[in-house]
Amino acid sequence: MDTKSIITATIISLLFLINVAAEDPYKFFEWHVTYGNISPLGVQQQGILINGKFPGPDIYSVTNDNLIINVFNHLDEPFLISWSGIQNWRNSYQDGVYGTTCPIPPGKNYTYALQVKDQIGSFYYFPSLGFHKAAGGFGGIRISNRALIPVPFPAPADDYTVLIGDWYKTNHKFHE
Ligand SMILES: *[C@@H]1O[C@H](CO)[C@@H](O)[C@H](O)[C@H]1NC(C)=O
Repeated sequence: MDTKSIITATIISLLFLINVAAEDPYKFFEWHVTYGNISPLGVQQQGILINGKFPGPDIYSVTNDNLIINVFNHLDEPFLISWSGIQNWRNSYQDGVYGTTCPIPPGKNYTYALQVKDQIGSFYYFPSLGFHKAAGGFGGIRISNRALIPVPFPAPADDYTVLIGDWYKTNHKFHE
């Protein structure tokens, strides 16, 4: 090979490397956390809603996705979301447990940046302060396999998110 073709070959392989190292996909979410009336036991009570929903919205993601979740706290108290089972490689400060991550003050927002790196499966998120998780603010997280990594079973006929927990007819705040 002459110098010219060596240079060309080098440039082509460098371009290939850049392409291989392309960033993983991003998914953006905007969540508004509010109080709202819910009646899971047939009795109306105050719950915590995300985008008007109880439980909160499911997150559908694919292995290695970057999840950018801008959470607006419209409650009159601090609010913090924990991402159960998400490994948070190199960003444990996004874990959402009090002491690791600061709560979102009332009227403010905070953007969680998570990467579901090398993970697959069903997980969930929940509010980690006080008794918030007894009032709502939780939901499912799904991480599907990338098409490149086949799973050793046929695609399911259907797919549901089931969240199980104790439930009380009082709200999450302390009463005298
Ligand atoms: C709050 O939301 C605004 C508007 O979407 C955004 O520009 C800003 O970065 C967010 N702040 C934080 C701390 O996430």
